[in-house]
Amino acid sequence: MEIRLIKAMPEQLKKKPEDESNLIFGKIFTDHMFLMDYDEGRGWHDPRIVPYGDFSIDPAAMGIHYGQEIFEGLKAYRGKDDGIYLFRPMDNIERFNRSASRVCMPILDPEVFMEGMSELILMEKEWIPKNQGTSLYIRPAMLATEPHLGVRPARKYLFFIILSPVGAYYKEGLNPVKIYVEDKYVRAALGGTGEAKTAGNYAASLLAAEEAKKKGFTQVLWLDAAHRKYVEEVGTMNMFFVVEKEVITAPLSGSVLGGITRDSVIRLVRDWGMKVTERSLAIDEVIEAAKDGRLIEAFGTGTAAVISPVGQISYKGEDHVVSGGVMGELSQRLYNEIVGIQYGEKEEPYGWRVRIN
Ligand SMILES: Cc1ncc(COP(=O)(O)O)c(C=O)c1O
Repeated sequence: MEIRLIKAMPEQLKKKPEDESNLIFGKIFTDHMFLMDYDEGRGWHDPRIVPYGDFSIDPAAMGIHYGQEIFEGLKAYRGKDDGIYLFRPMDNIERFNRSASRVCMPILDPEVFMEGMSELILMEKEWIPKNQGTSLYIRPAMLATEPHLGVRPARKYLFFIILSPVGAYYKEGLNPVKIYVEDKYVRAALGGTGEAKTAGNYAASLLAAEEAKKKGFTQVLWLDAAHRKYVEEVGTMNMFFVVEKEVITAPLSGSVLGGITRDSVIRLVRDWGMKVTERSLAIDEVIEAAKDGRLIEAFGTGTAAVISPVGQISYKGEDHVVSGGVMGELSQRLYNEIVGIQYGEKEEPYGWRVRIN
């Protein structure tokens, strides 16, 4: 598919950030964006790169009222060799299409998605920051735009990709976070939309996260909706627990988002000869293990932080320290390995890294 290009006028170009150490996540955006329209009967059409800016949407657009919105999050990394790298982008594209199907939105041709995204990034390559740990965050999204107030799947959609330069997640080493085990609110139930990256899941998570923040915690650890018993995920990360020699993470049974970092961690840890189990893990088992010293490490995995070590878990008013409050050995090894692959510094046999320039 031919991508139409409307370049920003010189006077429309924004000033690029001078201080890369102070980039706040998702605050500034590049000069251009990718757009494409969908109409029932006609399919996807008019892929285009245009100057970044507002778009006009009918106040009756169905996505605004009934939440037909999905998105993705991945990053472009600049290597020391000036290579521009993506990490497993086809997995994000496939997950986007799975999210779309779950909320009755049309899927995209993965090749068109990849081509549009790569072309936009290459056009904006001067926006990819250079300092260690920085990257260009990529946010593809789709919204139902048909103006109609009856509840049914829309017949018109807008797909767009915007880009935002982001700073290093960790400025002074990898600081372990304090998490609060949420036993009142739930994020997603089996049979619901938890495994889709759809806006409503994030709205559902806000109140618990705000309450936890007020109590001094970084994130909420979600338990399963039916029993409030089994650990699921944390904020925008999947969770891993190392109990003695077993590395455990929640299975992808419908309520948890299948993270690409999660999948990479499972693969690496198995290749390093350790046992990884995808199984239901009761919070009581985690707390018991923490109490008697068998909980060796706990960490979250996600695109934003890669690996986020957990230093403290609070459950039913009791605080439990994990790994002595410092980053564990496996967390550190995983972090180094994945970041090394992402920035083109480490060889990898998996084909995860994709160079686009
Ligand atoms: C709810 C949720 N879980 C887990 C993840 C981690 O997924 P990934 O490793 O693909 O970034 C994310 C981030 O996308 C998320 O939003």
